[in-house]
Amino acid sequence: MKILDGKNLSNIIKQEIKESVGVRLSLGLKKPHLAAIIVGDDGASLTYVGSKVRSCEEVGFESTLIQLEKSISENDLLYQIEKLNKNSNIDGYIVQLPLPKHINEEKILLSVDPVKDVDGFHPTNFGRMVLELPSFIPATPYGIMEMLKRYDIKTSGKKCLVIGRSNIVGRPISILMSQKGSYGNATVTVAHSRTKNIKELCLEADIIISALGIPEFIKEDMVKKGVVVIDVGITRILDKTALKGYVIKGDVDYKNVSKKSSYITPVPGGVGPMTIAMLLKNTLKACQKKD
Ligand code: GUN
Repeated sequence: MKILDGKNLSNIIKQEIKESVGVRLSLGLKKPHLAAIIVGDDGASLTYVGSKVRSCEEVGFESTLIQLEKSISENDLLYQIEKLNKNSNIDGYIVQLPLPKHINEEKILLSVDPVKDVDGFHPTNFGRMVLELPSFIPATPYGIMEMLKRYDIKTSGKKCLVIGRSNIVGRPISILMSQKGSYGNATVTVAHSRTKNIKELCLEADIIISALGIPEFIKEDMVKKGVVVIDVGITRILDKTALKGYVIKGDVDYKNVSKKSSYITPVPGGVGPMTIAMLLKNTLKACQKKD
């Protein structure tokens, strides 16, 4: 069993990005600038956005964090987005999801200028990704593909089971894994909340990518020997004995499933850090396109 060490790999990618920033500066070009909008005070979202902003500093990017009240109106949020669209110093930005219920998420994502949409959530980018045209690829699926590539895991002709069909992870990764690229070409099945025979599907899979959000859902008796397991789940479980008051659990019973896997991502330290590295890569790309 080999651990797919997302923490280490993301550090390598961040180092490469930092070197590209160094080259830009030596040529008199501007630093990439990422902005993030966060609405409300959800602990997990604040942690993720905090990591994104800290990572900008690590690679020499400028960053702007815009923290807005949970009660902000949709119109006021749209106004903030319009300001970012017009600000030529900002190369890319994200609106952290989920948004409060009174705000129409679709309307917000549609208002992001596609050239600054480093999350790749705008229909223009999503559509271009599906058609295999140049686009911003959503950071989590992009991170998974990069991990498979850099660990040289063969995917061509393999049976890949994606669990989850969200617009952020399940849907895009299922598309990328089936595409013609050198690290796609898999035969993909998408399982979701209405799927009836999930254990059977898991047992047939050569590669399982789980983005379900149910802690330790995938057990040892649900996978075949030699399986590649990519665990996208991150659920906080309250634990008074833990330093932070909670522990993070993935979708996979790591301790037992790892015994049967050829490769497996840990949680934390697997897909999570890769998501941040690929968001930075998209931001660098957005900045380079303006040169
Ligand atoms: N919420 C969970 N994942 C993400 C992500 O990749 N981007 C944004 N903007 N929000 C998220």
